[in-house]
Amino acid sequence: MEVNPDAGRVDSAADRRARETEEQMTDDERFSLVISVLGAVPGSAAASTRDPRIPEDVMMSAGYTPGVPRLGIPAIQSSDASMGVTNPGYRPQDKGATAFPSLIALGSSFNPQLVREGGGAIGREARDRGFNVQLAGGCNLARDPRNGRNFEYYSEDPYLSAVLAAAQVQGIQRQGVISTLKHYSLNCNETNRHWLDAIIDPDAHRESDLLTFQIAIERSQPGAIMSGYNKINGEYAGGNQHLLNEVLKGAWDYPGYVMSDWGATPQWQFALKGLDQESGLQADTLLWGRQPFTDELREAHARGELPADRLSDMVRRILRSLFAVGVDRWGPAPDVDMAQHQRIALEGARQGIVLLKNNGVLPIPPDRPLKIAVIGGYAQLGVISGTGSGAVAPVGGFAGVIKIGGAGVMGKHRNLFLFPPSPLEELAKALPHAHIDFDPGYTPAEAALTAKRSDVVIAFGIRVEGEGFDNADLSLPWGQDAVIDAVASANPNTMVVLETGNPVSMPWRDKVAAILQAWYPGQAGGQAIAEVLTGAVNPSGRLPVTFPEGLEQTPRPELPGLGTPWGTAVTIEYNEGAEVGYRWFTKTGATPMYAFGHGLSYTVFKYSDLKVTGGDTVTAAFTVTNTGDRPGADIPQLYLTEAAGDQRRRLLGFERVHLQPGESHRVTLNAEPRLLARFDGTAGKWRIAAGTYKVAVGRSANSLDLTAETALTSALFGA
Ligand code: GLC
Repeated sequence: MEVNPDAGRVDSAADRRARETEEQMTDDERFSLVISVLGAVPGSAAASTRDPRIPEDVMMSAGYTPGVPRLGIPAIQSSDASMGVTNPGYRPQDKGATAFPSLIALGSSFNPQLVREGGGAIGREARDRGFNVQLAGGCNLARDPRNGRNFEYYSEDPYLSAVLAAAQVQGIQRQGVISTLKHYSLNCNETNRHWLDAIIDPDAHRESDLLTFQIAIERSQPGAIMSGYNKINGEYAGGNQHLLNEVLKGAWDYPGYVMSDWGATPQWQFALKGLDQESGLQADTLLWGRQPFTDELREAHARGELPADRLSDMVRRILRSLFAVGVDRWGPAPDVDMAQHQRIALEGARQGIVLLKNNGVLPIPPDRPLKIAVIGGYAQLGVISGTGSGAVAPVGGFAGVIKIGGAGVMGKHRNLFLFPPSPLEELAKALPHAHIDFDPGYTPAEAALTAKRSDVVIAFGIRVEGEGFDNADLSLPWGQDAVIDAVASANPNTMVVLETGNPVSMPWRDKVAAILQAWYPGQAGGQAIAEVLTGAVNPSGRLPVTFPEGLEQTPRPELPGLGTPWGTAVTIEYNEGAEVGYRWFTKTGATPMYAFGHGLSYTVFKYSDLKVTGGDTVTAAFTVTNTGDRPGADIPQLYLTEAAGDQRRRLLGFERVHLQPGESHRVTLNAEPRLLARFDGTAGKWRIAAGTYKVAVGRSANSLDLTAETALTSALFGA
């Protein structure tokens, strides 16, 4: 049931009500709102040791803020939500939530409607637990294929990331639950993230990571923005005067509130720089030995250093988001149809699978009595997930949890989580006439013996990635590359299924007959993998990130600070600026292993009849036809290739089109004007230069089928 179908829009009635309510509050009540308390005391003996500030009848969460009942202000309770309502273990009574596919898998779907449906499901499961804030909306750009949290983000492209992040926020907020967008901004590596200084040209920042937030905020009006851990150009994200007060709240006039990340508020003065709420007080004690927005903030207020109207502003921003999204007027709890949520998770897993290579060995014919070897990847137990604050415990529990560990505060959260059902059991269901042998891939020699006696080999390659870690390189762990190489040498009909959170190196790529990227596909991933391998589902995913041949093709072959002890100050200069991912490859001229937007199908699509017009922006229309023999979905992409003489590659638009054999569909795309422009930091506006703009329609950033051009007049606009 939707509480407030227009919850996302900016609601001035909420602003008025926030002012009226705040004026009636005491200072004690005001100070009680600008903090949140972690459900469990970090580092406490029992994970579920309740912080004494949280009432006994309240379900433990990531953040608890007491309400003000006399004024109709509900307590605020947040949980993480990247892949579902997170249960970090300190809610032992929690029966488990739907474990949706990782955001990078949903990024591969290029399907905003599907992401919105997933957001709605998360919102309902959050409300079912009394959580009225969801820490969702991860939309940092995948700048570095080593970043352990890229599975919690959508893509390397600002427009794709913004459209999908906004869709998830819309879905959540239409259930009357606030969502965040995070982590504002340039939180693109995990190495020593609390001591990382991310350096970028300010105008390039506006054209990349900040443009992602700007478009997503406009499309979804998230009630809150979460600032990141790192510094940006020398100032911590949570206390970044330029990014918070000048850009977010100034140029963009954002009306909601800024919450810190957990353990990202080292000083009370962040309140003067635009931070409205210190999250997870105990995490700040752990990291900085203080809880600045408690006594220190009160004392600063008493000394007049925290002006009364700034304290009022902090509180009003929180209140107006509660009122705008409808947190204070929940009706009866919405129906939580877990079977429907499972269907959404399954569709997300299906549409997130990307067929990277196929020499014809796929789909596996389901009616033939083939001898099939399934090898490695714990495929006999389940599919894997990313780790950290976003990990979700599914209903019924995991099929297995294997501790991995590692340095820093997130080491204890780094586990091999396995979601049932397993690919093995799903393949057995899908291939009733086949004889299937499972081999754990424990050694190359042993696996090769199984491969040798089989008709077809399905080898799994998995890599656990997660919050708090950057991968040291792009290789698969645990000697899997040697196993895959051995089985491919023993049997040419070897296909590889990857379950990773990032691109990986594939030294065996030329030896295998097919490659499928399933990412972290969520609780329905085993079924979706089997359906795609056997042709019950036609793969339609497209890569939301470029797969490089190797790190030497990326802007930073050597990652500064990688391997330094936790706590070491690190500086990363993002000199690629706005030329992230496929844009970088266009600039350097290198050819990646697999391009942004790449993905194969079991049918064939043709593009024709491109017509382009100019004016304020570029409008392109073209026809997509399914010329193959089975239904399928395609995702044609529209790219800018040249702007008034400047060679510049920008994804301008895309559309997911499902077609029957022989069916055609006319696609019309209007480009977001800021993608055609450069940001002029001096003017504080976007500038389109007059001239000829060349565009192309393609099936990836490197495979452009149709081209056209049009003229645009000069323009200076926006903020
Ligand atoms: C984490 C993450 C953030 C999460 C928060 C609460 O460390 O950086 O994404 O929402 O803390 O768990």
